[in-house]
Amino acid sequence: MHTYVLDHYGPDGLEPATAQDAAPAPGEVAVRLEALAINPLDWKIRNGWLAQMIPLSLPAVIGYEGAGTVVSVGSGVTGFAVGDRVAGFFDSGAYAEVAVTRPARLTAIPSGLSTAQAAALPTAAETATRILGMLRPQPASTVVVNGAAGAVGSMVTQLLVRDGHRVVGTAGPANHDYLRSLGAIPIGYGAGMVDDLRAVASEGIDAGYDTTGHEFVDAVAEVVDPHRIITTADFAAAADGAIVAGGDPTQVMMTDAARNVFDLAARGEIRVEIARTFRFDELPAALAHNEQGHLRGKVIVAGYDREFSDIGLA
Ligand SMILES: NC(=O)c1ccc[n+]([C@@H]2O[C@H](COP(=O)([O-])OP(=O)(O)OC[C@H]3O[C@@H](n4cnc5c(N)ncnc54)[C@H](OP(=O)(O)O)[C@@H]3O)[C@@H](O)[C@H]2O)c1
Repeated sequence: MHTYVLDHYGPDGLEPATAQDAAPAPGEVAVRLEALAINPLDWKIRNGWLAQMIPLSLPAVIGYEGAGTVVSVGSGVTGFAVGDRVAGFFDSGAYAEVAVTRPARLTAIPSGLSTAQAAALPTAAETATRILGMLRPQPASTVVVNGAAGAVGSMVTQLLVRDGHRVVGTAGPANHDYLRSLGAIPIGYGAGMVDDLRAVASEGIDAGYDTTGHEFVDAVAEVVDPHRIITTADFAAAADGAIVAGGDPTQVMMTDAARNVFDLAARGEIRVEIARTFRFDELPAALAHNEQGHLRGKVIVAGYDREFSDIGLA
């Protein structure tokens, strides 16, 4: 099968390679990946920034999420069969034609959801539902989301709005109408952010979620109690009292709450935008595009030999 391996740490560390098709061990499922999604985690790993936290034996296939079709199941697997359309997190790395994983990391793709849309959801759905389970905002309260146009930020924003919260979201000016379309009140980040926050949320802010760092927790400490802010981007914010939601990405499971997001997406009640699409042989460029950091939603890569039209893209 065709893969991309992380050959060495650094911006040019990804190399195309071939390998034996990944085969499922007992209790595992093998999936032909028709679409995979890029996470900021991928280029942080590629750059070597997480080499202590997530040790890899190079060369290694990286990449965490995608969608495709089950091609074989190991003994003892129940709930998935050859031919099922699935999405989720992949133990053997998603930058591959075929990847293996544990069934608890997968969900069936509901009818009505394209393969590309399904590939865009696992991390956004799992992270957003986990964050909100930790944050537990007061009913009908105001919550600020830093980086609300991003993949996880837009999901958190939509789930909060659905639950009756008032959401103030930070984004660049080009994303303000988009945030309004999600039901949020947009403000800019950087200079003026705290004044704008005060102006649009004079009733007070119960909680915050920080997806991008940039010293957000410190900046808003006068208006939001840092102990009521969760960050997935700024590990240093723990010193200010914020809750850092980390976790081992190789052990992230597909929770029922995350599966429910797939059903909401299939019914058109929630969405993750697809910021840009790449072919499999453009995978290094897909990471570079994600790394520039100003995306509205997910970067999706078509699986090896897959046309965009095969995965539901025009
Ligand atoms: N710990 C975990 O379990 C976990 C799980 C998932 C993700 N994460 C981490 O969570 C973060 C978010 O992931 P993601 O996939 O949602 O990222 P993403 O989609 O790449 O986020 C991009 C967004 O960040 C916004 N942004 C850029 N600079 C900003 C700034 N200075 N202030 C505020 N917003 C800014 C951009 O808004 P504009 O385009 O409008 O500028 C863009 O919409 C990443 O660091 C990721 O590694 C952690």
